[in-house]
Amino acid sequence: MAIDQNVLKRAAAAKAVEYVNDGMKLGLGTGSTAEIFLELLAARVRGGLNVIGTATSERTAEKARTLGIPLASLDELAPLDLTIDGADESDRKLTLIKGAGGALLREKIVAASSRRMLVIADKSKLVGKLGRFPLPVEVLEFGQRTTVARIGEALAALGYHNPSIKLRGRDGLTFISDSGNLIYDCALGAIKSPPKLAAVLAAIPGVVEHGLFIGIATTLIVARPRGVEVIEAAK
Ligand code: 5RP
Repeated sequence: MAIDQNVLKRAAAAKAVEYVNDGMKLGLGTGSTAEIFLELLAARVRGGLNVIGTATSERTAEKARTLGIPLASLDELAPLDLTIDGADESDRKLTLIKGAGGALLREKIVAASSRRMLVIADKSKLVGKLGRFPLPVEVLEFGQRTTVARIGEALAALGYHNPSIKLRGRDGLTFISDSGNLIYDCALGAIKSPPKLAAVLAAIPGVVEHGLFIGIATTLIVARPRGVEVIEAAK
């Protein structure tokens, strides 16, 4: 019988909890896998573990508060010891696509302020080449159409022809990030060079952040039905 994806997410989250030590300052990720981690962490906090976290989204902050995990702002805590977060895709070099939950901007700021970033994922997230998942790009509302036109031109210059670039929203309502920005999901197919793409997107005025995380994750915990694999980033 196929193992439920939630069982795998829980296995990855349970492994990540083993990395948390007393006194640590933690970055708390966003998404369903990160929320399972919060539940397991909360059980250890109830058992006397002394940690403090900073949340990567309002959703995570609310969940952590409900679970009784102490929180403070990033500015109060940085540098953090460890950030634990999910991902939409990771390759074996631990280059990630993140942002399906719309929290990529704060997730990147928090992870980049941490000594280590653990990524927790079920096996479906580990890919040979990034890009099956549309790349989220967070854009300032001001001049958004002009910014998106520039993104399209830049992608074409990199050889991504006619990619779909879709404003995120549902039922006629535009998605607004916690920082008040819009997200455009760019369906690119296989990403040839993540560093090149990241540099090009970051250079476009009006692009606030993109979902490529390069050189940030230090450890990937990937759960499969036959067990949990831990992949460390090359030093
Ligand atoms: C949110 C993210 C999430 O970490 C990513 O979408 C994975 O989520 P899930 O664990 O629900 O699959 O990047 O912005």
